[in-house]
Formats: sequence, structure tokens, C-alpha cells
Amino acid sequence: MPNIILLGPPGAGKGTQAKRLEESRGMVQLSTGDMLKEAIAKGTELGRRVEGIMARGELVTDEIVIGLIEAKMKDGARGGFIFDGFPRTLNQADALGELMTRTGATLDSVIEMQVDDAALVARITGRFTCGNCGAVYHDVTHPTKVAGTCDVCGSTNLKRRADDNEETLKTRLMEYYKKTSPLIGYYYAKGQLSAVDGLAEVEAVAEAIAKVLDKA
Ligand code: AP5
Repeated sequence: MPNIILLGPPGAGKGTQAKRLEESRGMVQLSTGDMLKEAIAKGTELGRRVEGIMARGELVTDEIVIGLIEAKMKDGARGGFIFDGFPRTLNQADALGELMTRTGATLDSVIEMQVDDAALVARITGRFTCGNCGAVYHDVTHPTKVAGTCDVCGSTNLKRRADDNEETLKTRLMEYYKKTSPLIGYYYAKGQLSAVDGLAEVEAVAEAIAKVLDKA
């Protein structure tokens, strides 16, 4: 039951690979971004608090996301957890370490998805997702088989994200380099870091991740 972190900038492919791991290995994706977007869609008090922050591409507070993760981890995951978009700061990484210790769980691998910034703009501006099942698509690299219909669940509720534009992406990237990229050194020093080429095709990235997991 491996627990892993997928680490990488916006558009690196974390969500795409997390969904594949759910299907292939019965792991459970814990995406703080998805949890926050769900709160916004439902119009909860939390959603109202974070909506503007996310639309600007800034990070929400550590306290909020640590609380979300702690609540979800209580449900357990027989196939292991995939932390997607969490932790994003050193404080969050420390908090996750404490949570793991407290619950007797281990963090088996931190997989850095390496991409270059130029590719991220094209990925982010072409992305759309299924509002029903969360499947991730791209206008050019991964369109739906039938235009306007999700391949996985058949829903026609396909959506684009409010923060998926070039202007907001600049802030999201800056937040990543200032606050999240130090985690690469943090997990390297702990001997938990592996890297995969996130610029490769989706299938090849999945194979590289599988190799890391099979060694863990
Ligand atoms: P979040 O939802 O986590 O967004 P993100 O980290 O910016 O990551 P993305 O979802 O944009 O990218 P991804 O790496 O999952 O890429 P994807 O697989 O979709 O966070 C949103 C916001 O919430 C943050 O800005 C912040 O405000 C807040 N937040 C969330 N967590 C937080 C935390 N812990 N602390 C504080 N604030 C937090 O792929 C992108 C596109 O590329 C898709 O179209 C896909 O089809 C395509 N693609 C994927 N892989 C490939 C490939 N190998 N080749 C070609 N195309 C590919």
C-alpha cells in the first residue's frame, strides 16, 4: 500500500497520472485543488473564502489544505494515497510528515514530474475536464473521441477552469517556484525523491511512474 506524492508545476500532468493510478492500482487521489474547486462549485463557506485567491492563482492558507487532507486521510485507502498538489509549502510537508507518523503510515515515494515552462502554457490553455467524473482532456493532445462528450462517463458537461489562462498561470508558476519547488530539495535530502520526464507522452510517463512504484 504505497503512499506517494506527485510533485510538479501547474500542468505537469499530476492529475492525469493520478487518475490512471486510481484505475490501474486502486490507489486514492487526494487533490487539494479538486477539493477546493468542489467547495466553490457547492457554494460552501470555504468555497467563498478561497474563490478569489484561486482565481488569482495564489495559494490558499496551509491551515485550510492541511485540514482537508487530514479529514480525507481518516477514510483510509487500501491501495494507498496519491497526494496531488499537496504539499505545496514546507509547512504543509512537515504537517504531512506528522500526520503520517500519527497514523502509522509511511510516505513511500515523492515523484517529481519534470517539465519546462513553455510546454505548460500550451497544456494549461488547452485543458478541459469532465464536470461529472473529472476525466482530464486536451484540445490537441487528448481530445474526446466524440466532440463534446466524455469518453469515460458519456457526460456532456465538459468544462474549462477559471484559472486556466496565461495571465493567472504566471502567478501560479511564480507561487510554484517560490513556495513549492523547495520541496524538491526537502524530499531529496530525506532520500524519498525520484524524477520522471513529464514532457514524455502520457503512456510513457505512466510507465516511468510504475517503475518507481514497483521499486518502492
Ligand atoms: P490544482 O488544482 O492543484 O492545480 P495545479 O497544481 O496548478 O495543477 P493542475 O491541475 O493545473 O495541473 P496538473 O499537473 O494536474 O496537470 P493535468 O494532469 O491536468 O490547484 C489549483 C489552485 O488551488 C492553486 O492555484 C491554489 O490556489 C489552490 N491549491 C491547491 N492545492 C493547494 C495547496 N496544497 N496549498 C495551497 N493552495 C492550494 O494536465 C494538464 C493538461 O496537460 C491536460 O489538458 C492534460 O490532458 C495534458 N497532459 C497531461 N500530461 C500530458 C503529457 N504527458 N503529454 C501531453 N499532454 C499532457
